[in-house]
This record gives sequence, C-alpha cells and structure tokens, in this order.
Amino acid sequence: MTSSSNRCLTPVTAPAVAARKGSGEPLVMITAYDAPSARVVDASGAEMILVGDSVAMVVLGYDDTLQVTVADMCHHVAAVARTRPRALVVGDMPWLSYHVSREDTVRNAAALVRAGAGCVKLEGGAKRSEAIHAILDLEIPVMGHIGLTPQSVHALGGFRVQGKQLDAARAIVDDAIALAEAGCFAIVLEAVPDGVARMVTDSVPVPTIGIGAGRHCDGQVLVWHDLLGFGAPDRKQPKFVRRYAELELDATKAVERFVADVREGRFPSSAETYHMADQMAEGLGLYGASEPANA
Ligand code: KIV
Repeated sequence: MTSSSNRCLTPVTAPAVAARKGSGEPLVMITAYDAPSARVVDASGAEMILVGDSVAMVVLGYDDTLQVTVADMCHHVAAVARTRPRALVVGDMPWLSYHVSREDTVRNAAALVRAGAGCVKLEGGAKRSEAIHAILDLEIPVMGHIGLTPQSVHALGGFRVQGKQLDAARAIVDDAIALAEAGCFAIVLEAVPDGVARMVTDSVPVPTIGIGAGRHCDGQVLVWHDLLGFGAPDRKQPKFVRRYAELELDATKAVERFVADVREGRFPSSAETYHMADQMAEGLGLYGASEPANA
C-alpha cells in the first residue's frame, strides 16, 4: 500500500483502535519523529504512529527519556502530523508534563493535540487515574503504558524486565485494570514476561500493545531506529528487537562513497552541473583549448 493510496482510506481513530479488541487482527504501532519516517510508517499500513519520548535516546543522543520537554515533543508531533498520515498519531507526554498539577496536565495534553496528535500516551498505572480523567475531560483519548516505564528509570533501578515476581505481576494486572477503568482506549505493555502480558490482555476490555511482552498482546510496537538497524554499534539491543534492515550500515557506506567520489574527482559529473552557456563561457575566457566548455 502506498502513502498516496493510504490517504484515500479512512483515518484511524482512537475509538477504531479500541474496537479492534478481540478481533484477532493484531494492531501495529511504530514510532516516528519526523516527516520522512512518518511517511514510511504510514505507507506500511500500520494503524498508529507513536511520536515517543524515545526521541530523546534514539534521535537526540540522551541516555534516558527524561530530558525532553513538551515543546520538544510538540516539535516532533507537528513534523509527523504535517504528512497528514492515515495512521493515528499518538503524542507521548514527557516526564513532568502530567505529574505536577491538573492544570499543567491538561495544558500539556492540549499542546500535543494542537501540534497534531490524535491522542496522548502517558506512563504509570492506577496512580495516573486522576490525570487520565482530567485529559479525557478535554475529549482527548488517552493510551496507557505500564510494565517497564522508561520515565521511572531511576525508581526502577534501570531498564529492566518488570513483573517477574508474583506480586509484581499481579500489580501490573491491577494497574492495567485501573487504566481501562479510568478510560484508556489502549495500553502499552513494555518488557514483561509473556504470561503477564497474557493475564493483562485477558483482563482488560481494551487492546494491549506489546513491546518486549511476547505474542499474547492485541498488537505490537517497535521503535523505528531499532527496527531499521540504527543505533550506536556499542549499544546493546534488547532481545525483543527484530532488525529488518541495517540502515545505519547502509547509510555509512553510501556516505563513504560520496566522500571518495568528491576526493577522487568523480563528483559532480557534467550531468550534475548547471552549465553556463558555451558562448558566454567563451566570451569570458573561462575555458582553455584543452577543456571544452561543457565537459
Ligand atoms: O517512547 C516510546 O518509543 C515508547 C515505546 C517504547 C512504547 O514509549
């Protein structure tokens, strides 16, 4: 499916995503942070484009997601939204944007929607119920995110698989139920054992979207750069990442060829050059007898 044919199709909405629960048709969400990546994701037919705060790590070079602001997220959401994708644009609420006050929470969610998001995503379970109600009150759909919540990296003691003990697994299921009861239309489940994902998926009436949560979810999400093989060579990839291309390697090789072509006089060629009219060049005496004007 091409992006132009995508544009003729009905745009994906949060209620349409919610209605997919139990359909047996897995949902697909992929992150994107700018116009080219959004065009590629939309052309794939994925239902959702997540403008994730992972932009901090995979694009901006930070070690965690805590460094990006609402303004940063709006900047990236707007770039994605300008491509007018058919896919639902999910705007990630960054750290501190829904933690301080109801006023801040609603203003920040509204800023993401004004930038072009069709819904917002926030991290955390039952303790986010108030924030979710406040955002829903603005008629903005909310996606939840539990399990490994990267904004809690310091509290969790690192980026670790969650729900490995019985109590922790039960707490994740309880959080999922609380998010669904609060009104979330879908829930991201990150880095939990597949059995926990199965319990959650069976316990909530809204779709679960897994990342490192195994196959028992209603959909899957991956980060653009992971899926396409971008990332510092020394960065250890989590086991749940499947790389469908090695674009960083391919891009490096392509750029090296350009550098060699310049250094060895192969770039630019005549066809890649705007030529001055022969007569004018001759009149100006620009070329000697050994060098034809349009070589
Ligand atoms: O920011 C992000 O990319 C995410 C995904 C890992 C789900 O939240």
